Amino acid sequence: MDKIKVLSVFGTRPEAIKMCPLIKKMQEHEEIESLVCLTGQHKEMLQQVIDIFHIQEDYNLQIMKPSQTLTSITTDILTLIKPVLEKEKPDIVLVHGDTTTSFAVALAAFYQQIPVGHVEAGLRTYDKYAPYPEEMNRTLTSRIAELHFAPTDNNRECLYKENITNNVFVTGNTIIDALQTTIVADYRYKNKELARIVENMKGRLLLVTAHRRENLGQPLRNICEAIREITERYFDVEVIYPVHLNPAVHDTVHELLGREKRVHLIDPIDVEDMHNLMNRSYLVLTDSGGLQEEAPSCGVPVIVLRDKTERQEAVDAGTVLMAGTKKADIVRLACELLDDEEKYQQMSRTINPYGDGHASERIIDEIVRYFYR
Ligand code: UD1
Ligand code: UDP
Repeated sequence: MDKIKVLSVFGTRPEAIKMCPLIKKMQEHEEIESLVCLTGQHKEMLQQVIDIFHIQEDYNLQIMKPSQTLTSITTDILTLIKPVLEKEKPDIVLVHGDTTTSFAVALAAFYQQIPVGHVEAGLRTYDKYAPYPEEMNRTLTSRIAELHFAPTDNNRECLYKENITNNVFVTGNTIIDALQTTIVADYRYKNKELARIVENMKGRLLLVTAHRRENLGQPLRNICEAIREITERYFDVEVIYPVHLNPAVHDTVHELLGREKRVHLIDPIDVEDMHNLMNRSYLVLTDSGGLQEEAPSCGVPVIVLRDKTERQEAVDAGTVLMAGTKKADIVRLACELLDDEEKYQQMSRTINPYGDGHASERIIDEIVRYFYR
């Protein structure tokens, strides 16, 4: 058999962070021809990752529009990826996780009858509106996919419950592969503003991110007000919040926190700056999926700014707390961890339920076995 032609398609920052380690490994593999297509659902935030991992894309569909809609993302991808699939005729298309890029690309590949491999498969909350639209994106992608790379046993069980039992492999999450290359001792921040903030910082660092569609509006306002109250109560606490470029996030966060003392709002930072910043944080407050996986492996407790999580492993292990998006709940949990040294120490154990840093190798082994068996 000729080399297996693998077309990896992704379009947002978290997909890129989790796909790049896998792509680098596929590029070195003698039985694989690796091609990369970016949908460009994100632009600057995607480019930051591509630059760090030195990935050269073969195609970029460049679909991003300011304040884009789910409909425009889906239809633009379906239309623009078709000629790429027709020209390249890959043996398999790899998609990642739960974005609208993942689902639209899986659907487009299905229309061409090309097998789909789903990296980070089997995460579920069983609430189709939380996270929205990600729960439905990943559920539909599972129905289409031929190969399912589940990060954990729990994710595999979720697929089994949906009668998806063929070609389900527990591989670990490639985010842990990425972390092993990004976090280094004595790290020097590239972003000058960030370097200056960290250098002058004397107190405890709270790292905050929030951007989810279902949190836009009042929930995001509650989150900002909670952050303001926490910094008013604790003079030794400083917040760094790299703010997502979505105008609906940016404008609210800057309006409510832009003038707060000890709250540093900065533009998105590259993944090396981000991972090393997380590693030195006292506490992470976030609605991000990726940060819920990364922080436990650095021994940094996480307060999740969502009502439901598809990443139950770290909650069960006791390093992640669910706060939801009510101001009082967020403030209460943050205060507990800022006041109660014993509780904080219990939560700041380093655990790694999401992998051992070898997920990419396992995924590649299964792809090769699938085509050569
Ligand atoms: C998307 C994913 C979400 C993922 C998140 C990671 C969907 C529906 N949502 O949400 O699952 O958690 O990415 O961050 O797939 N923008 C820029 N530059 C960028 C990126 C975004 O200006 O580099 C702005 C644009 O105005 C864009 C808006 O942000 O229209 C929203 O981007 P979009 O991809 O639709 O939603 P996210 O909230 O980023
Ligand atoms: N991240 C980053 N720079 C930032 C904020 C986040 O590199 O300014 C990283 C973060 O460490 C994690 C990923 O981006 O690896 C999470 O992406 P995001 O929050 O956009 O999406 P989600 O995880 O919610 O899907």
